[in-house]
Amino acid sequence: MAVIGVYSIKGGVGKTTLAVDMAWRSAMRSRHSTLLWDLDPQGGSGWLLGLPDRTCSRAASVFQREGKPSDLITETRYPGLSVLQADDSMRSLSLTLARIGKRKRLARLAGFLAAEYPRIIIDCPPVLNEISDQVFAAADLLIVPLPPSPLSARALPMIREEILANHPRHPPILPVLSMYDARRKLHREVHTGFAAGWPVIPMNSAIEQTAVRRAPLGTFAAWTEVNDRLQRLWDAIEAKLAMRAAISV
Ligand SMILES: Nc1ncnc2c1ncn2[C@@H]1O[C@H](COP(=O)(O)OP(=O)(O)OP(=O)(O)O)[C@@H](O)[C@H]1O
Ligand SMILES: [Mg+2]
Repeated sequence: MAVIGVYSIKGGVGKTTLAVDMAWRSAMRSRHSTLLWDLDPQGGSGWLLGLPDRTCSRAASVFQREGKPSDLITETRYPGLSVLQADDSMRSLSLTLARIGKRKRLARLAGFLAAEYPRIIIDCPPVLNEISDQVFAAADLLIVPLPPSPLSARALPMIREEILANHPRHPPILPVLSMYDARRKLHREVHTGFAAGWPVIPMNSAIEQTAVRRAPLGTFAAWTEVNDRLQRLWDAIEAKLAMRAAISV
C-alpha cells in the first residue's frame, strides 16, 4: 500500500489537477484500486472527475472516533478509481483534528483503507497546520508541485524544514516543476537552476481543459506529449514507491 500526498503551502500551483491525474493513472494505467481523498473544502477533486458537489456536510466526520470513511466513498465512472469528496465540513478540519488530538488519525484511517485501496492519493489544501501535519505523518511520498518562481524557491525549504522539525520518520519529497513555460527566460533559468532534475509539467492548454471537460487528460488527449509527461511522472512515483518498499523489507 502507499499513501501519496500532493501538497504545497502555495495555492493555485496545480495540486488538485495533478492529484486527479495521478489517481486516474494509478487506477487506469497501473490497475491499482485507488482512493482519491480530498481534504480541501473547495472540493476540486470530485468536481474535476465530473461528480456532483456534495450537499451534505459530513466529510470531516470520518476523523471522529465513530467515523466510517467507507460510508462516504463514491465510485467514479473510471474502473478502480474512488473518491472521498470534500464538503463544507472540511472548513473546520484543522480545528476538528486539533480537538481530537491524535496526530496520526489520518495515517490510521489510511491504514484501515489500505486493504481495499493499495493507492491512496491525498489532495491537500494550501495550508501549514494540523492538516498538513497529519498528511506528513500519513504519506509514504509527498509530491510538491511548484511553478518556476522565486516564491517557489522559498516554499520548498520551508516545507522541508517543517517536515524535518516535526516528523523524524518523514516521507521522501518529490518536487515537480509545474506550469513550466519554456518561452519564458525566468522559467528556463529555474529549470536549469534550483529545479534542475525535477520532473517538469508544462503550462498546457490540454491540462487546463481538464477543468472545462471535467475529465482526466488521458481520456481526451492521450496522444499528446503532455500526456506522456504526466505518465512519466506517474511512472517515477511508482518507481520511488517500489524503491521505498524494497528498502523497508
Ligand atoms: N500545467 C498546467 N497548465 C495549465 N493550467 C494548469 C496547469 N496546472 C493547473 N492548471 C490550472 O491552474 C488552476 C489551478 O490549478 P489547481 O486547482 O490544480 O491548483 P491547486 O494548487 O490545487 O489550487 P488550490 O491551492 O486553490 O487548491 C486551474 O484552473 C487548473 O486548471
Ligand atoms: Mg487544490
